[in-house]
Amino acid sequence: MNGKRLPLKNQEHAILDDEPRRRDFANKLQNAACQDKINKEAITVDVMQAIKERRSIRKYRPQPISEETLNTILEAARWAPSWANTQCRRLIVVRDPETKTKLADTLRSSKPGGKNSATEAMRQAPVVIVACAERALSGFYKSGEDQQRLPSTEKGEWWYMFDVGLVMQNITLAAHTLGLGTVHIGLFDVSEVTRMLGIPNNVAIVELLVLGWPDETPATRPRKELSEFVFSEKYPA
Ligand SMILES: Cc1cc2nc3c(=O)[nH]c(=O)nc-3n(C[C@H](O)[C@H](O)[C@H](O)COP(=O)(O)O)c2cc1C
Repeated sequence: MNGKRLPLKNQEHAILDDEPRRRDFANKLQNAACQDKINKEAITVDVMQAIKERRSIRKYRPQPISEETLNTILEAARWAPSWANTQCRRLIVVRDPETKTKLADTLRSSKPGGKNSATEAMRQAPVVIVACAERALSGFYKSGEDQQRLPSTEKGEWWYMFDVGLVMQNITLAAHTLGLGTVHIGLFDVSEVTRMLGIPNNVAIVELLVLGWPDETPATRPRKELSEFVFSEKYPA
């Protein structure tokens, strides 16, 4: 393995609909990429392929992620659109194993007494991105002489969830094209993480994202057919 990104051949785009070959191809990409030597010119995974191929990864190899690779991913975050270009996103990159372990302890399950499926992943992977938003930017406009920020829509401040969601999608897709895995985590103790990381009152935590070199190639989880959620002209009766 020479550590270079494997360029995709045309016929390889077709394998996405073929599960065993998709897994084999994903393994090939991961093995090539996990040496963390980016050949930027050879990042040839197209957008549609990355969208379809990306999976939530819950098993990781312990290898670190280089600054160059991490910066490439954060650059993708930087270019996400935002409400009136207000760019409310604030990202905390956590690498310290002790902090990651403490963050993993804040994960919760939707079932009483259950365990979040991403708990071990957070301990194993080299990076956790704590995705936050500065409040009163997305969905707000400035009013009057004192430039008071008022909500522009009935959704109030919740537009920051949308803006940060776009950022995190960029991150997960960029990570995938570099052979890295991610998993979003929405179930955790927000107050505990806020206190632990010293997040101020004007900043809200949106999610935690685990980032690292995958040690599994999970099967594709099913999606609804277009006919089940895309409607023509009006909402069906
Ligand atoms: C907002 C959000 C929160 C999520 N929270 C969790 C979580 O707390 N734990 C976990 O293991 N997976 C979590 N996931 C991952 C989903 O379970 C996963 O994306 C979904 O099952 C589809 O699988 P795929 O990502 O492999 O396509 C979350 C995903 C999203 C978008």
